[in-house]
Amino acid sequence: MFEILTQQPKAEMSLFALCVAIVYAGYRRYCRISISHVPGPEPESFFLGNLPEIFQSQVGAPDFKYQCQFGDVVRIKGPFGEDRLLISDPKALQYIFHTSGYGFLKWPERTEISRVLMGRGLLWADGEIHKRQRKVMLPGFGAPESKAFIPIFQKVGAELTAQWTDIIASSADQTAEFNVATWLSRSTMDSIGEAAFDYHFGALAQADNEFMKAYFGLMSDTLGSPPRSTIFMQTILPIWALQLMSKYSRRRNLVHARHTANLANAVARALVESKADALLQGKGNKDILSLLVKANASENSATRLTEEEMFAQMRTILLAGHETSATSMCWVLLELARHPEVQERLRAEIRATELSTGRKASAFTASDLDSMQYLAAVLKESMRIHPAVYHNYRMAAKDDVLPLSKPIRTTSGELISSLPIANGTKVIASIAGYQRNKEVFGEDADTFNPERWLRETDEKKGPTLGVYANLLTFAGGIRTCIGWRFAIHEMQTLTVEIINNFELLPTSDLARLRREACLVMLPTLEGEQEKGENLPLKVRLAARD
Ligand code: HEM
Ligand SMILES: *[C@@H]1O[C@H](CO)[C@@H](O)[C@H](O)[C@H]1NC(C)=O
Ligand SMILES: *[C@@H]1O[C@H](CO)[C@@H](O)[C@H](O)[C@H]1NC(C)=O
Repeated sequence: MFEILTQQPKAEMSLFALCVAIVYAGYRRYCRISISHVPGPEPESFFLGNLPEIFQSQVGAPDFKYQCQFGDVVRIKGPFGEDRLLISDPKALQYIFHTSGYGFLKWPERTEISRVLMGRGLLWADGEIHKRQRKVMLPGFGAPESKAFIPIFQKVGAELTAQWTDIIASSADQTAEFNVATWLSRSTMDSIGEAAFDYHFGALAQADNEFMKAYFGLMSDTLGSPPRSTIFMQTILPIWALQLMSKYSRRRNLVHARHTANLANAVARALVESKADALLQGKGNKDILSLLVKANASENSATRLTEEEMFAQMRTILLAGHETSATSMCWVLLELARHPEVQERLRAEIRATELSTGRKASAFTASDLDSMQYLAAVLKESMRIHPAVYHNYRMAAKDDVLPLSKPIRTTSGELISSLPIANGTKVIASIAGYQRNKEVFGEDADTFNPERWLRETDEKKGPTLGVYANLLTFAGGIRTCIGWRFAIHEMQTLTVEIINNFELLPTSDLARLRREACLVMLPTLEGEQEKGENLPLKVRLAARD
C-alpha cells in the first residue's frame, strides 16, 4: 500500500489531499495568530507551496534570492497554504537557537529521517530525552579530549599523503586527478573510528571496504533532490505512516538507508561486545565508547542510556562525525584550488611555523595549530560561505514571539519589530543565509575572502550565535554540534598535512560543480548527481625549498 502512495498515485493523492485540506482549513479557523502578512514569494502550487524549490534547489539558492527580495524573515508556503518562515535574521536566530531552549523542536518528518539513518540518538532526540543523552555524551567531547585526538588525525593524514604520493609518483606527468570527496570521506571515517571507538575501519587502506561502500552516496541517495511525491508524503503523512514506509518501502533510497542502518548497528554491536568487559573494569575511561557503555550500565536514570540508545549514539557519531567533516574539508580544498594565492600564503605559514617551532608540520601540537592565524582565517571563511549543514528545521512548541534585528514591513504596510507566531509554526533557520548576511559580514559577504578574519576590529556585529567565529556552522545553544572542537582540530590537521605536501589545482569539470542539498551540502557534478559526492581536483607534489 505504501508503495502505491510513493509512486505518483494521482487519484489516491488527490482524495487524501482533499481530506487533509478540509481538516487543515478547520484548524486554521481556530488558530488566531497568523504570519500571512509577512512578505514572501508566491507558492508554486497549492499542494506543495514553495517546498519543491526549497528542497530541490542547490544549497542557498532560494535563501539568497528571497533574502535579497524580501529581507531576513520570509514567509514561505507549506502544503495547502500553510504559512512557514525562512529566517536569516540574527536576532530571531539567536532567540530560536539560544533563548528559547527547547521552545523550538525539530520538524517531526525530519527527525523521522534522522531516526532511520541514525536511530533514536542525539540528533533525533528533543526535550528531556535530549538533555539526558547530551549530558552522557558531553564529557567525551571537551577541549582536552579533542586535543588528544590530534595524533590520530595526523596518522590518518599521513596515510592519505602516502597513498597520494604513490599514485602521483607513478603517473607520467607527476600529476594525478582525484575525486577528493571520497578520499576525504575515507579519511574522516578512519579518524572517527579510531578516535571515538578505538577501532580501525581501514577505509583508506581498502578502497572496496564494505562499510564505506554502504556510506558512499548515502546522503545524496536518501536526501538529494527528493521528488515531489516524496516531499508531499513527508509533509502530510502522520509519523506512524512515515515509519511504516521507512520500514517496508522498496524504494532504492530507503533500501539503501536500511542497509546502512543494519550494517552500522551490526558494527556498533560488535564493537561494544569486543570491548564491554574491559571498559566496565575501568580501562579506557573517558573515551567515547566507554562513556556510552558505562551509561548503559548506570543505575541512575538521569544518566542512563538504554541499549538501543547506546547503539544509536554510535551510529549518530559515525554519520554526523564523518560526513560533515569530510564535506567541510571538500569546500576548503576547493577554495584553495581556486585561489592559488591563498594556497601559497597558507603553505608559507605552515613552513614558517615549522621553522619557529622546530617541529615538522606532520607533528604540530594543538597550540602550534591554534597559533596559525592564516589557517584559522581560511577555515573560518570557508565554513562561513560553505556551511556543511545549511538549514535547521524547527517548529514552535508554543505560541511565541520572535524578536527581530530590524523591523519588517508587513503586506498591509505596518512596520513591526517583533513577530508573533503560533504554536506549531514551522521555521527554517537558514544558516547559509545568515552567513551571507551583509549587515553582519559586510557588503562583500558573497565573496570568499579570508582577509576579513584578519582585520583588527573591536566592534562586534550582530548578536552572539555560534561557538566558532560566531558562525552558525555548528548551530548554537543547547543543540550546538557536540563534535565542533573535534572537527576543528581534524580540519586543521588535514589541511596542514595536505597543503604542506601537495599543490591543488582546479579541473575543467568544476564548471559543473553543484552544491547538492542532502541535509549536508555535498559537492556533486551536474549530470552525474546520482554518482554521489564528487570533487575532482588535480594534485601534484608541492615544492620544497
Ligand atoms: C565540520 C564538521 C561539522 C559540522 C559542520 C557540524 C555541524 C553540526 C550542526 C549544524 C549540528 C546541529 C544539527 C541539528 O541540530 O539538527 C550538529 C550536531 C551534532 N554534531 Fe556536528 N558537525 C560537524 C562535525 C561533527 C563531529 C566531528 C561530530 C562527532 C565526532 C559531530 C557530532 C554531532 C552530534 C552528535 C550532533 C547532535 C548534537 C545535539 O543535537 O545535541 N559533528 N553538527
Ligand atoms: C545494556 O544494559 C542492559 C540493561 O541493563 C543490559 O541487559 C545489556 O547487556 C547492556 N549492554 C551492554 C552491551 O553492556
Ligand atoms: C502546542 O501544540 C501541541 C500540538 O498540537 C500541543 O501538544 C501542545 O500542548 C501545545 N503547546 C502549548 C503550550 O499550547
